[in-house]
Amino acid sequence: MTQRIAFVTGAMGGLGTAICQAFANDGYKVVAAYHPQFDDKNAWLAEMEAAGYKDFICVAGDVSKLEDCQAMAAEAEAKAGPVDILVNNAGITRDKFFAKMEKDQWDAVINTNLTSLFNMSKQFSAKMAERGWGRIINISSVNGIKGQAGQTNYSAAKAGVIGFTKALAQEMAAKGVTVNAIAPGYVATKMVMAIREDILKGIVDTIPMKRLCKPEEIGGACSYIASELAAYMTGATLSINGGLYFQ
Ligand code: CAA
Repeated sequence: MTQRIAFVTGAMGGLGTAICQAFANDGYKVVAAYHPQFDDKNAWLAEMEAAGYKDFICVAGDVSKLEDCQAMAAEAEAKAGPVDILVNNAGITRDKFFAKMEKDQWDAVINTNLTSLFNMSKQFSAKMAERGWGRIINISSVNGIKGQAGQTNYSAAKAGVIGFTKALAQEMAAKGVTVNAIAPGYVATKMVMAIREDILKGIVDTIPMKRLCKPEEIGGACSYIASELAAYMTGATLSINGGLYFQ
C-alpha cells in the first residue's frame, strides 16, 4: 500500500502536535498546517526533530480564510501528494459571559472553529471520494455537547462541528470516505492551562477521573479513526472526557 498522507490543522498546538506524532508513528506522511502569526515553525520543527520526528511538511495559513485553505491544500499536494486524511483540529477560545461578549469574539470563534471545516473539507473531500478512500476527523469538544458557561461562541461552534460531521458522513458514506468527530474533555494544552487557576481547579474537581486528558490520548483516537479497522464507523462522535459528561 502506498504511504497515506495526513493533513492536520492547528498542527503546532498541544493537540495538533500529538496528532501529528501519532500519524508519524503509524507511518503516514504528515502535513502540519499552522497559523504563521500564532506559531513558530522553526522552533516547533526543532522540538519535533529533538523528539525523533524529522519528516513533517509545514504549510502556513489561516483556516478561517477560504483562499488560505486553497493555497495550503495546493502546497500540500505539491509537496506531499494527494491528501487521504484530514484532521480539522485548529481552534481558539474567546471566553466571556454572553452579556459581555463582543461580536468580534463571536465571529473569531465561529470562523476559526466551524467555518474552517467548510474551508478545509472543500479542498479534499471530493478528491478523496474520487479515489474511493478518505478520512475526515473533526475535533469538537465536550463543551459542544454539554454547553459551558462563558463559551456561547465555542459551544455553538463545537456543536456545529458535530452537525457538520453527521451530515457530511451521510453524503460520503458510499464513497469510502468516513467523517467522524472527537469530543475531547479538558486536555492539558496551552488553551486549557490559560483558564484561571482557581476555575481550572474547580473544573478538574468535577472530572470523575480527577485529571486532565493527555494530548496523546486524543492522538491515539485519531490513529484509530484513520486506520482500516475503523472503516465502518462514520458520523460518530467519540467522547474522551474522563467521565465528565455522557451523551
Ligand atoms: N455558571 C453561572 N455563573 C457562573 C459560572 C457558571 N459556570 N461561573 C462563574 N459564574 C458567575 C460567578 O459566580 C460570578 O458571579 P458574581 O459576579 O455574582 O460573583 C460571575 O459569574 C463572574 O465569574 P468569573 O469571576 O468567573 O468571571 P470572569 O469575567 O473573571 O471570567 C470566564 C469569565 C472567562 C468565562 C471564566 O469564568 C472562565 O474562564 N470560565 C471557564 C470557561 C471554560 O470552561 N472554558 C474552557 C476553555 S478550554 C476549552 O474550551 C477546551 C475544551 O474544549 C474543553
